[in-house]
Amino acid sequence: MLNEKQLEIINATAPVVAEHAETIASTFYPLMFERYPHVRSMFNMRHQQTGEQPRALARSVVAYALNRHDPEALERLMRPIVNKHVAINLQPDQYSIVSECLMAAIGEVLGDAVTPEIADAWSGLYWEFAERLIDAEEATYRALEEAPGGWRGERDFTLVDRVPESEEIVSFYFRPADDQPVRTFQPGQYLGVALDIDGEQSLRQYSLTSRPNDDGYRISVKREGQGRASRHLHDHVNVGDHIRLLAPVGEMVLDARDAPVMLISAGVGQTPMLSLMAQALDAGRQVIYLHGARNARVHAFGDHLKAMAEQYGSQLTYRYVYSEPESTEEARHKGIIDRALLTDYLPREVTPSCYFTGPTGFMRDVDNALAALGIDTPYRHFEYFGPSGELH
Ligand SMILES: Cc1cc2nc3c(=O)[nH]c(=O)nc-3n(C[C@H](O)[C@H](O)[C@H](O)COP(=O)(O)OP(=O)(O)OC[C@H]3O[C@@H](n4cnc5c(N)ncnc54)[C@H](O)[C@@H]3O)c2cc1C
Ligand code: HEM
Repeated sequence: MLNEKQLEIINATAPVVAEHAETIASTFYPLMFERYPHVRSMFNMRHQQTGEQPRALARSVVAYALNRHDPEALERLMRPIVNKHVAINLQPDQYSIVSECLMAAIGEVLGDAVTPEIADAWSGLYWEFAERLIDAEEATYRALEEAPGGWRGERDFTLVDRVPESEEIVSFYFRPADDQPVRTFQPGQYLGVALDIDGEQSLRQYSLTSRPNDDGYRISVKREGQGRASRHLHDHVNVGDHIRLLAPVGEMVLDARDAPVMLISAGVGQTPMLSLMAQALDAGRQVIYLHGARNARVHAFGDHLKAMAEQYGSQLTYRYVYSEPESTEEARHKGIIDRALLTDYLPREVTPSCYFTGPTGFMRDVDNALAALGIDTPYRHFEYFGPSGELH
């Protein structure tokens, strides 16, 4: 725990640290990869180039300093971080590496302004946060391991099927290599996939698109033009191949209300919606699903969703729009998901539970539109497909 003196120092220096937080974070990562090259494979280097990961780290430390006495705010801050860390199998001893390199980066950016007392106070804050994360991560590892079919760290799976869902998306079906049951999951959750690509490990996360069961998992992956892991999965992973998976985690799960559920996705953001939709329908909830794709060629799961809409009748409304239709038939569905469309489909009588995923700009627009339409924060659930950012 931080002492009074350290707290005073943190309060006094927080504005200058916050002002330089992103520079500190962007100095920190290259320094850490140079000193400890082995941790590099845990990170998605693209998130470094775009600055998303340095920004996420910087924002979380500042948010921690502001919310360290508010248990609810802390839970909201820590849960996505803990899940992401568990999905990459982060270990407690790796926190010393980050501590050393973060303090060196603070020194490098702020120079002589960092007296030993200031360094000591910020190091104290880091370790207080780190210990909370380490405890929460250990509790999560233990829960995952102790659940039926559960395990800790990586487990060997076999690819048993791969099915194209659109020109860009392929579903991959995995069964455990030991033929034992697997831990079931909550719809909306994701798992970590460990891939060996050109002699280097890459870790990525993918939402689960199957219904929860204890036989295996399905993920559905979009092939990204320059993407390292997604191209590897599409181009080189075949039935019979072995892949290591980490147990499912994730906080974007169905709430316990019986209100209507509004699912809103763009592109591959539709993946977590599939299992959320099935769960909500099973629970007897009204579901409105709005999905946006560029055109029919990249509209994955279209036939499945249309069949579901027929099967469930008035319980499920499935509306899809194409931003770049390529035929007269497709042009009948021309549109984007904007405030006008959301207004048309938003249930009036009860506040729906809203779930949305897609590119960051899309999520920002949807979040703003829903807020303007009176959907308060607790009813707006979303998942980033990269490091968490800010929607405002
Ligand atoms: C919780 C969660 C759930 C997810 N669920 C899914 C899911 O269900 N399905 C899914 O497909 N993805 C999902 N993702 C995203 C997934 O984890 C990967 O980020 C995604 O597959 C891209 O990884 P990659 O290695 O192929 O691309 P990366 O190599 O990480 O590149 C990322 C992007 O940058 C572009 N890029 C890379 N290098 C360059 C360059 N030099 N110049 C220009 N552009 C470049 C790539 O084309 C790609 O669009 C999820 C992510 C999270 C965090
Ligand atoms: C107090 C210490 C730490 C904090 C505050 C922190 C914070 C964060 C945050 C905010 C994210 C993004 C979460 C999200 O996407 O929602 C993240 C992801 C991640 N963290 Fe940490 N972290 C800490 C320690 C560590 C350590 C010690 C390592 C390993 C050396 C590590 C490795 C990662 C990786 C690999 C990711 C995923 C990044 C990616 O997508 O490329 N973190 N962390």
